[in-house]
Parts: sequence; C-alpha cells; structure tokens
Amino acid sequence: AKPVIVAIDGPSGTGKSSTSKAVAAQLGLSYLDTGAQYRAITWWMVTNGIDLEDPTAIAAVAGKPEIVSGTDPDKPTITVDGVDVAGPIRTQEVTSRVSAVSAVPEVRTLITELQRSIAAGAERGIVVEGRDIGTTVLPDADLKIFLTASPEARAARRSGELKGADVHATREALIKRDAADSSRKTSPLAKADDAVEVDTTELTLAQVIECVVTLVEEKR
Ligand code: C5P
Repeated sequence: AKPVIVAIDGPSGTGKSSTSKAVAAQLGLSYLDTGAQYRAITWWMVTNGIDLEDPTAIAAVAGKPEIVSGTDPDKPTITVDGVDVAGPIRTQEVTSRVSAVSAVPEVRTLITELQRSIAAGAERGIVVEGRDIGTTVLPDADLKIFLTASPEARAARRSGELKGADVHATREALIKRDAADSSRKTSPLAKADDAVEVDTTELTLAQVIECVVTLVEEKR
C-alpha cells in the first residue's frame, strides 16, 4: 500500500496527541508531534537566555539547535543537540513562551522543512499533529482532521493532565495561547477547507480514535 499521510490539527486540549498516537499505533504508522518541536526550540531559547520579546533575536539563532524527533507512536522522543528534553518542554515556562517563538517566520520555515522531510521518510505513512499541518506543512495530506472541543472541556482535560491544577487558570492560559496561535501572521491555527471537523466535547477518547481510524481506512 502507498504511504498514507494524516494531518490532525486543532487547539490545545482537544485530545490531539492522545488521538494521534493511538491512531498511528493502531494502523502501524509513524507519528510526529510538531508542538513538541516548537516547544523544543523554545526550551533551547530559554536555556540560552535569548530575549523572547525580540523576534529579530529569535530569528538570528533559530537555526542553531538541532532538533531530532523519534516517530514511534509507542515511545515518541525529542532531543535538542542530543539532550533528551521530553520532560523540560512541558514546563509552564516553556508553555507560556512557545507562542512567541512559534510566531517567528524564520522558526516556522526551519521547523516546517524538518517536518516535511520526516513525513517524506515515513515508509508506511505518518500521523502528524499540530496547528498548521493541513493548511501549510502537508497540504496534500490524504486525510485532514480538525479537532475541536468547548473551552470548558479543553480546560478540564488539561487540568486533569496537570493533576489538579486550577481549572480557571488553565482555561485562561489555554484561551490566551490559542488566541495568539490563531492570530499570528505566518500559518496560524486554522481548519483547512478540506479538513473533516470533529467536535470531541461529548465524545470519549475511544470514540474519537475510532472515528479517525474509520476515516483513514476509507482513504486506503
Ligand atoms: O501542541 P502543543 O500544545 O504542544 O503546541 C505548543 C505550541 O507550539 C502551540 O501553542 C503553538 O504555538 C506551537 N505550534 C505551532 N504549530 C504547530 C504545532 C504547534 O505553532 N504545527
């Protein structure tokens, strides 16, 4: 069978990562978490004291860190210059700063090239999750999914992940990050015209996975 390319986009807290990993594992495909790549470059900028208020400073060093993503859905990995950053990229500091870094066009160009080369190298196909995969990174994907959920459901899921973090604060932070990601000039968070929108508010994770697996199988 020819490799199948699946793009899964949507705001945070819609179950994108859990769904994408499970679908890839079930169908024997590779998996790429593009948010982790933007988090990794942000982690490197924070660690190296780059002024994140200054897009020119970010652009000037964007090509310095070497980001490597492992694409096994059962154990996704991410390293920066050989250092495992799977833990550090999930801190609140990185989460609160990633939108400023990911809005810089030079950063997006570099990361987009990396994403395209990883997708092209996936022999059996790949599930790529992010914000601009269907619109910009892989516009010829075989299947594009856009996941949504109510702000309440998204905040509740994220707070659950963060083990009891304040739902209200989490909701505010989520809304702020999505607004920044949706309003930036270069490849904002957006649904591609030919994407299938799945509202996950009233669905269990198992139901969302089943829905996406069925859609992929229809394309094969
Ligand atoms: O998916 P996750 O929440 O880990 O993504 C972190 C951030 O990375 C997003 O808030 C966004 O700023 C950026 N991102 C992006 N384009 C993508 C994936 C993530 O700009 N395709």
